[in-house]
This record gives sequence, C-alpha cells and structure tokens, in this order.
Amino acid sequence: MATTGAAALVALMTTVVSWAAVLATAAAALLDTSPVPFQAGYVPLFGGDNLVRSPDGRSVRLKLDRRTGSGFVSKTAYHHGYFSASIKLPDDHTAGVVVAFYLSNGDVYPGSHDEVDFELLGNRLGHEWRVQTNVYGNGSTSRGREERYLLPFDPTLRPHAYAVAWTPTAVVFYVDGAPIREVVRVPAMGGDFPSKPMSVYATIWDGSAWATDGGRYRVDYAHAPFAADFSGLVLTGCPVAGGARCAVEVMTGEFAVMTPAKRAAMRRFRRRNLLYTVCHDKIRYKGTVFPECDDTDDGGDFHRWGESKRVSASRRGYSQQKPRKDMVVDASSGRPSTWPIGSLRAD
Ligand SMILES: *[C@@H]1O[C@H](CO)[C@@H](O)[C@H](O)[C@H]1NC(C)=O
Repeated sequence: MATTGAAALVALMTTVVSWAAVLATAAAALLDTSPVPFQAGYVPLFGGDNLVRSPDGRSVRLKLDRRTGSGFVSKTAYHHGYFSASIKLPDDHTAGVVVAFYLSNGDVYPGSHDEVDFELLGNRLGHEWRVQTNVYGNGSTSRGREERYLLPFDPTLRPHAYAVAWTPTAVVFYVDGAPIREVVRVPAMGGDFPSKPMSVYATIWDGSAWATDGGRYRVDYAHAPFAADFSGLVLTGCPVAGGARCAVEVMTGEFAVMTPAKRAAMRRFRRRNLLYTVCHDKIRYKGTVFPECDDTDDGGDFHRWGESKRVSASRRGYSQQKPRKDMVVDASSGRPSTWPIGSLRAD
C-alpha cells in the first residue's frame, strides 16, 4: 500500500515536472528568435533552379530572369508571430523588379484573404530602392493600407533585416531592428485587420506594370538575372492550433512590445524616410480616413495625395553624391557602405 502510494506520488511528481518542462520548452521555443536553416521552415514555391540554396542551407538566392521569377513559402501556416529575413537586394539597374517578404493566406481564402507585406521596389540605375508596406484583412484589397519609404542605407551592399511582428492587437514592421510602422488594431477596423492563419512567403518577380514610377520603367532583361539573397530566416510563430496561450506569449515578446524608446526610433525613421502614407492620402479613398490612422506624422508635411513634402529621393541625392574619403568602401563594388544620410537632415 505504502509502496503503491509512493509510486503514485513519484508518478504524479514526474507528471508535474514533465509538464513544467514542456511548458518551459514551449515558451522558450516560441520566443526563440534565432534564425533557422531554410529546410527547417521553408520549401521552394516556384521558379525551379532560379532558387539556389547555399551549401550550409542557411541562405537562399532567388533569381528573376526572362523565363521566371522564384519564391519560397513556409512549410506551415502561423496564427500570429514574428517573422524576419535578412535580404541583400540586386544592384545595378533594377527598375520593375519586386522582391517581397510577406504573410498571406490567399491560397486558402480567395476573396477574403489576409496579408501583411514588405515589398522592395527596384529602380533605375542611380536611383534608390523603395520599400512598401501593406496590410489587408478579410479581402480588404480595395482598402489597402499602403506606405512607402526610402531606406537609410544602400540595401544592395549587404543584407538588412526586414521583420514583421503580428499579434492579435497590432502589426509592427521592422527594418534592422528599428520599428518603422505600427498598425494598432482598433475595433472600427472590423475585418480589415489580418486575423486568420497565414503562411510566410519570399518572392522575386516582374512588377513592370507598377513597381517603378507607376510602371513607367519596366524590367530590362539585358541586366538579368536579378538575384536577391535571403538569410537570417526567423520563424517565431504560433502553430495554427496554438490557442490563446501562444497568442499571449507572442504579445508579450520583446518584438511586440512598443517601448517609448522604440516609438521614438520609429518617429525618427518616419520623419526621415516616409515617402507616402495612406493615412494622409485624401484622394485615393475619396477622403476616407482609416480608423487606425493617428496623427503621429504631421499632416501638414504631406500633400493631399499622401506623399511627403519633406522626404524625397532627389533631396537625398544618392545619385549625385560622390563617396567621401572617410567612408568605408565595399571592396567588391567600390561604393560607399553608408549613404550620406547626414545630408538629408529634413528634421
Ligand atoms: C469577412 O468576409 C466575409 C466574406 O466577404 C464576410 O461574410 C464576413 O462577415 C467578414 N468578416 C468580418 C469579420 O468582417
């Protein structure tokens, strides 16, 4: 009897201990934002041999040529999480080229899909790449929450991290660890906030119809192949059956919590780099101001069509500026590793 009782107690304790271990492991695994090997989280999506894996399996090159673009997709869908990729963009003449890193469930919910996008838009030789972010929920493609930015660095020289934190209450976009946009879910957004499980995608494709100056400059395949290198693949997401507990873990993750310091960094980035925001566009949606828009960015700094009066590529003058002697020059390209952003000083 006593033996049986002790055995039961041991069994019970073992159960308790193992549950604690399981929970601890789950929490640690969930909030672990270290990169994973490509094949641990992703599979090729399209493009055949235009997708090239590195020998160590930790990075992938996506190429666009006359025949096809290429892309990959996460093995599973996630219901909230933190997703990051370090991307080195093709240099030279890249007008019309689009490199995208995004979450979507368009294949599962046609007509009512959700999407969270980073779209990197190529440009003519001597003109910078631009970054576009967008958020859709439940098929709200006629109410896209678009923004466009310049980057405070040349994205073709080395990889830079583009990340999305998606929780039940907000979407935060990051570039190199600095938040650049926060879309806070407000009740009036209704279904426009992405809320169904999504997969993670990375693609390179021909966006001739719209990517560069609204389609004025098309892809010139004399410069092909265009190659984008992806590394630092972080997939810190809740499994679809992860439930409320996982959502809470994600909401309390460092990547999801906006501190005053992070908000200040975000304002700085936006003052210097925000080219266009739907929140100040009075024309596109006939005066509709989306409920999640706040007045963080001074409306007086924007034209009625949502473009900034203060930030523009020509004022930045990447193409005119000669490398200075004190700049670190990338040996392979002979170009400065940091653009002369000191010359911007829009604020
Ligand atoms: C999502 O879209 C579907 C189909 O258009 C609609 O029936 C449903 O009410 C929408 N859900 C929300 C939360 O808006």
